[in-house]
Amino acid sequence: MAGSFGVIGCGYVGSAAAHHFRHLGLEVTGTTTSPSRLQELCDLVDHPRIYRAGDSCSDASFLDSLDGLLIAMAPTSVSMEEDQYRAVYGTGVTSLVEAIKSRQSERPLHVSYLSSAGVYGNQLGAVCDESTPTDRSNTANALLADAEEAVLSLNGFGTSTCVLRLGGIYGPNKDIASFIRSASGHMVPKNGSHINAWVHLRDIVQGIDFAYQQRLHGVFNLVDDLQVSRRDLSNLLCDDEGLAPVIWENHDRSDARIFNARVSNEKLKQLGFQPSVRSMLDPVAAI
Ligand SMILES: NC(=O)c1ccc[n+]([C@@H]2O[C@H](COP(=O)([O-])OP(=O)(O)OC[C@H]3O[C@@H](n4cnc5c(N)ncnc54)[C@H](OP(=O)(O)O)[C@@H]3O)[C@@H](O)[C@H]2O)c1
Repeated sequence: MAGSFGVIGCGYVGSAAAHHFRHLGLEVTGTTTSPSRLQELCDLVDHPRIYRAGDSCSDASFLDSLDGLLIAMAPTSVSMEEDQYRAVYGTGVTSLVEAIKSRQSERPLHVSYLSSAGVYGNQLGAVCDESTPTDRSNTANALLADAEEAVLSLNGFGTSTCVLRLGGIYGPNKDIASFIRSASGHMVPKNGSHINAWVHLRDIVQGIDFAYQQRLHGVFNLVDDLQVSRRDLSNLLCDDEGLAPVIWENHDRSDARIFNARVSNEKLKQLGFQPSVRSMLDPVAAI
């Protein structure tokens, strides 16, 4: 495959996507906000760049030469800190969208933006698809939903753009199944009746490839096939190895960001995309 592909945010997902597209023969530009990671990026991409969306001093001219762009930015702190969320999904995304609109090039660009299936929030466990309204009752979700809208506005400016709503990610170095098993016999302060969505890193990369090759526009859920509660998932994982169950709470904490939805992946499947890992219980998930 020929062409030029950019990845904004070469973190866990962005690095895997950069590796994939470079392997396919595309010329890849990849960004980090950290000068200390530049050397690492030299081995990963053809053109490493320091770029921080939202920083008016950051040079976005690399956007001019691209045919495809993946936006894979996330706050780097583990905890949900509102100002970090605002810096990335508020100021950061808005200024990046403006930079894309101001590209000094006629070259057509396709954009894929990584969001989260968590935007569905509390759907009381009901099945939801891309037409289901997002739950903006939580500040983080509202920021994510606003960021999606900002990015999708590019479609009205001649830049074909899609949003991929990811489930919680598992894959190499993110062995969520083992992490859940390690809580065997312990109390976890989360509501065990809630249903979450998940996706393997391999399928995220394949989904990004699919989105670019098909020039998808609009919103797509990129999740695996598993639609069970935390409790059922942990029971399946622990039973498998003869472990005591994880003990979950049966109520919501007042400050909790709730995600309780059966997220459908039918829209992508109808277009011909099939996740290769059906769930983290699938033996191929460990490969
Ligand atoms: N992790 C999950 O389970 C999960 C679930 C659903 C959705 N997602 C979404 O998937 C995407 C990728 O997640 P990930 O796990 O790969 O994240 P990650 O490993 O934390 O990587 C985030 C990347 O974003 C970069 N970044 C941070 N602030 C930036 C800014 N202002 N401008 C430009 N780049 C910036 C970071 O730069 P540095 O290289 O300097 O650190 C890093 O390269 C995110 O959009 C996230 O919301 C993740």
